[in-house]
Amino acid sequence: NGGDSDAKNLRVKLVLLGDSGVGKSCIVLRFVRGQFDPTSKVTVGASFLSQTIALQDSTTVKFEIWDTAGQERYAALAPLYYRGAAVGVIVYDITNPDSFHKAQYWVKELQKHGSPDIVLALVGNKADLQEKREVSVQDGIEYAEKNGMFFIETSAKTADNINQLFEEIAKRLP
Ligand code: GTP
Ligand code: MG
Repeated sequence: NGGDSDAKNLRVKLVLLGDSGVGKSCIVLRFVRGQFDPTSKVTVGASFLSQTIALQDSTTVKFEIWDTAGQERYAALAPLYYRGAAVGVIVYDITNPDSFHKAQYWVKELQKHGSPDIVLALVGNKADLQEKREVSVQDGIEYAEKNGMFFIETSAKTADNINQLFEEIAKRLP
């Protein structure tokens, strides 16, 4: 199951990966504190936050979230954070095709070196910027389907689909 836990109170290690600037820290801030910071600073190394949600059947899921730094200079640290993770959330920015390619790199890395039963989610963030979209919904869906991942588009700015992302992950825990 999702970590050291019993049936009713799961504890789940979750790692966020993706290019710098795609909005990983903003997604976490929105989920954990209900806030958005338009002046969000780049993450150095990684940061840790946790948040507990309750499911309909009264199971609680405590997400222990490692928000990694997307800048290239930190790439070598990633294994420290995804090791033992039950969930990998791989984020790209729908206005930035390079970030979509980088997401695919992280998917492959987790498939090779992550936990064998890891639950993977592909997240197209900044969905509020429709007029600047450069990665189609279809491209996201297709890549996710091919790789057995859950797919969702989110906006940390408007909060669209942020809670849904974590609820859907919780439903997919083994
Ligand atoms: P690193 O820590 O360097 O890996 O970057 P990050 O992925 O954590 O990016 P961060 O969350 O710091 O967000 C980068 C920028 O994108 C900030 O200026 C945010 O305000 C902006 N941003 C994040 N999410 C959204 C979103 O959903 N919509 C819009 N319009 N802007 C967003
Ligand atoms: Mg960050």
